[in-house]
Amino acid sequence: MNGAAFRDDACVDPAIVRHAVEVLLRGGLVAFPTETVYGLGADADQPHAVAAIFHAKGRPKAHPLIIHVSNAEAVDRWARHIPEPARVLMRRFWPGPLTLVLPRSARANDLLTGGQDTVAVRCPANAWAQSLLAGLCEARGEPSAAIAAPSANRYGRISPTRAAHVRTDLGEKPTGVVDFIIDGGECALGIESTIVDFAAGATRILRPGSIGRPEITAAIGEPVQIAPDAGPTPRVSGRVSGHYAPSKPMELVAPDAIAARVRALRPLALAVLAPPERLADLGAPNLVLCIAAAGTPQEYAHALYDQLRRLDASAARRLLVALPPGEEAWEAVLDRLRRAAAGSEGQIIDAD
Ligand code: TXA
Ligand code: MG
Repeated sequence: MNGAAFRDDACVDPAIVRHAVEVLLRGGLVAFPTETVYGLGADADQPHAVAAIFHAKGRPKAHPLIIHVSNAEAVDRWARHIPEPARVLMRRFWPGPLTLVLPRSARANDLLTGGQDTVAVRCPANAWAQSLLAGLCEARGEPSAAIAAPSANRYGRISPTRAAHVRTDLGEKPTGVVDFIIDGGECALGIESTIVDFAAGATRILRPGSIGRPEITAAIGEPVQIAPDAGPTPRVSGRVSGHYAPSKPMELVAPDAIAARVRALRPLALAVLAPPERLADLGAPNLVLCIAAAGTPQEYAHALYDQLRRLDASAARRLLVALPPGEEAWEAVLDRLRRAAAGSEGQIIDAD
């Protein structure tokens, strides 16, 4: 998988991009689509603008941001050293849904890095994101200009995959906190980028994503591990166990235990996300919303955050989500679901 798959140059409006670049230049915040989720962007070289991101999201200052660059050459200005496996991954997967954690250069200020000695960089494939980066580089006369951007949601909540999600969560000024929201339609992939860390010498996956462990292992020619969670003060905010969370308690339930769980919770109002064949025989009066889960990991990821938001916005008091298969291809989706359940103070109900 690489960037070419998520390009849709036809829909980019240059006038909208020009306006967004002006907003970035004067230190404002622009929400923009990427192939993963919407980002809340600021010019990475303007500390005041970067500080505004934390304020807008309610995000703790120690949680570092990803900086988005328009090509691999720009990374040399943000990282002081690029290990060979990192170069291999950039060539193979950029532009695309892959973030690299590298030793930072002096240009990567403390706000971007959370005061750490590393910086996270990614080159997005989405045509709007690429145009915005190109416009910023041109306006600044600086080919390595970058956009610092976390996902454009309130801290800890579900990431946005549509402009409407950003409007609901953060809103546009004067009533909201974002200076300008670019509506580039639905994000192609739907979950955040895979994060690969090279800083500790070994290559480790800090956050699984659409580019899976087998693809990364094949590209660099050595096995890659998923780093264990870092405890209460992680370097990756997406690794806090309660992340990507709905506001209502959410339970992950083995598919063959769903019907019994729905009955057991009666009369509590419930919303359910499960494979279509599991929904067919539920028919309980306490079900206020049933959503059919997609059958492949790609389709599931694409729809996931929108579906979680719909479950959360329903009249249900509790959300039940059928556990997807445990195979490696579902690793990223499972990671997000487990964190969402933990963040909502929900639980995991096994079949037995
Ligand atoms: O797909 C994505 O990566 C999206 C789009 C907008 O690009 N961005 C995104 O950003 O998910 P955010 O901030 O929601 O998640 C980025 C993750 C955070 O968990 C952050 O802690 C981690 O990257 N991160 C940033 N810098 C890091 C560093 N130096 N070391 C380890 N983790 C880092
Ligand atoms: Mg996020």
